[in-house]
Amino acid sequence: MNISVCIGSSCHLRGSYDIIQRLKELIAEEKLEDKVNLSASFCLGQCTHGCTIRVDEDIVTGVTKDNIGDILHKALAERG
Ligand code: FES
Repeated sequence: MNISVCIGSSCHLRGSYDIIQRLKELIAEEKLEDKVNLSASFCLGQCTHGCTIRVDEDIVTGVTKDNIGDILHKALAERG
């Protein structure tokens, strides 16, 4: 699964680096290195709803460091 976190200026101001840090922690804690490919992305065109991430082809808005865990686990469950 590919997760791309927007680091465009709007999402950056809303804390996208905290989201990346939290994702890195979760990936390490849960040994998801083989399942999750984490990257950063330029603006995903949803600035007013940020932070924004892309999970494979799906755009997810309203992401925070507090809800990213749930989003990650749901996406993993959906993909088996
Ligand atoms: S800066 Fe993240 S969607 Fe535009």
